[in-house]
Amino acid sequence: MTTAIIGTGGIGSAIARQLASGGETVRLSSADTKSARALAAAIGRAAVVAVDNGDALRGADAVVLALRFTVLKSVIDEIAESAVGKVVVVPSNPVSADSQGNVSRLLPEGQSSGEVVAGWLPPGTRLAMAFGSMSANLLESASNRSPDPAVLFYATGDDRAGEEVARLIRAAGFEPVKIGGVEQSSRLEVGGDLHDLVLSRAGAQSLIGGA
Ligand SMILES: NC(=O)c1ccc[n+]([C@@H]2O[C@H](COP(=O)([O-])OP(=O)(O)OC[C@H]3O[C@@H](n4cnc5c(N)ncnc54)[C@H](OP(=O)(O)O)[C@@H]3O)[C@@H](O)[C@H]2O)c1
Repeated sequence: MTTAIIGTGGIGSAIARQLASGGETVRLSSADTKSARALAAAIGRAAVVAVDNGDALRGADAVVLALRFTVLKSVIDEIAESAVGKVVVVPSNPVSADSQGNVSRLLPEGQSSGEVVAGWLPPGTRLAMAFGSMSANLLESASNRSPDPAVLFYATGDDRAGEEVARLIRAAGFEPVKIGGVEQSSRLEVGGDLHDLVLSRAGAQSLIGGA
């Protein structure tokens, strides 16, 4: 199947490599297409470079918006028409870092990125917050663990988005575990209690209380 990935930086490129190695075709787009072209060349036949962000969604079942939180809304506005009916997967953490690497949260305490992003999406899109709960390096090193795959958490209130993101998580070499609706996304982000953990399903279920 085909997934669009908009943003081919640190996390977008790791997601694209993992999905492609799991048999998915990825349609890639980035700000100036240079990083998308380099990534597509490295991945090989499973990757296609889109002409622009809207074109990335052509024929795709889902789109991963692997973008910094501050550019998410403008890209959502740009692709709004093509995104209707698609599953939208968002790994973005609502944080910024200064030149010293000090991280600060961009949303007020208690406000979840999932709810904010849901408010930006056009009606008819199906949101899942996923693939942002591990650093890009960990996402690659913890994938395809044997015999028990490591868990990758996701948050959604939409059943079809849940099925699709679970399929993508499996293709990327992980065991999908739902933590709840998108309002729970703060648990997945930098500073959240479920961030950067490599867990088996049993360990994950006990942490999230069997949700
Ligand atoms: N990196 C990680 O380890 C990691 C892990 C978990 C979650 N996250 C979260 O994921 C998000 C992205 O992080 P990142 O580290 O991947 O950022 P990044 O390395 O800066 O990559 C951002 C990507 O967005 C692209 N982009 C910017 N504006 C665009 C536009 N208008 N249209 C299309 N593409 C555009 C950039 O294109 P160009 O390549 O052309 O500049 C780049 O490929 C952040 O919210 C971060 O918190 C990151």
